[in-house]
Amino acid sequence: MSEREKRVAVLISGRGSNMKALVAASRAPDYPAKIVLVISNKQDAAGLEFARSENITAIAIDAKAYQDRAAQEDAIHQTLIEHNIELICLAGYMRILTENFVAKWSGKILNIHPSLLPKYPGLNTHQRALDAGDKEHGCTVHIVTGELDAGPIVAQAEVPVLPGDDVDSLTARVLIEEHKLYPRALAMAVSK
Ligand code: GRF
Repeated sequence: MSEREKRVAVLISGRGSNMKALVAASRAPDYPAKIVLVISNKQDAAGLEFARSENITAIAIDAKAYQDRAAQEDAIHQTLIEHNIELICLAGYMRILTENFVAKWSGKILNIHPSLLPKYPGLNTHQRALDAGDKEHGCTVHIVTGELDAGPIVAQAEVPVLPGDDVDSLTARVLIEEHKLYPRALAMAVSK
């Protein structure tokens, strides 16, 4: 690993397709970041197995094993420190981080969100875009702050909403863009 590659951890809860896209991108010799750690808050997240198959340290830090949210986040924080992590990418991490945790990693946590923020923070973004009759939808990578899905935007990608779209077709179209956007946004964030 080159001295200048940033050491990145990806936090997931499930299949981890965005994490896979980040891992694939970081294999390129000139990519400025390396995914060296994957943490899931779910023991059975499919993404953990993938990460291990790529020889990336992959650890479940399950909330159920801890007394409270603060204790689980402390465990995550310690693990990040032990692995000399410089930047965190949330990729389908379905647990809201506390302000205390975010403050410890201020400006160093990225998230990918499946909407054109500031439109549709929170859940069910594709359904909400369809319900609103939007002609364009997309995804956003932003810096995580104490306010949900509201931090500074790093990059966005748009997709058209087509006649006849349903949640599945729109989700799939956005996901293709997510997999291109997140590696690009991470490279931009670490090169700043
Ligand atoms: C993605 O749509 C992402 O935007 C959202 O959660 C989903 C995670 O998918 N935050 P995956 O686990 O990366 O496949």
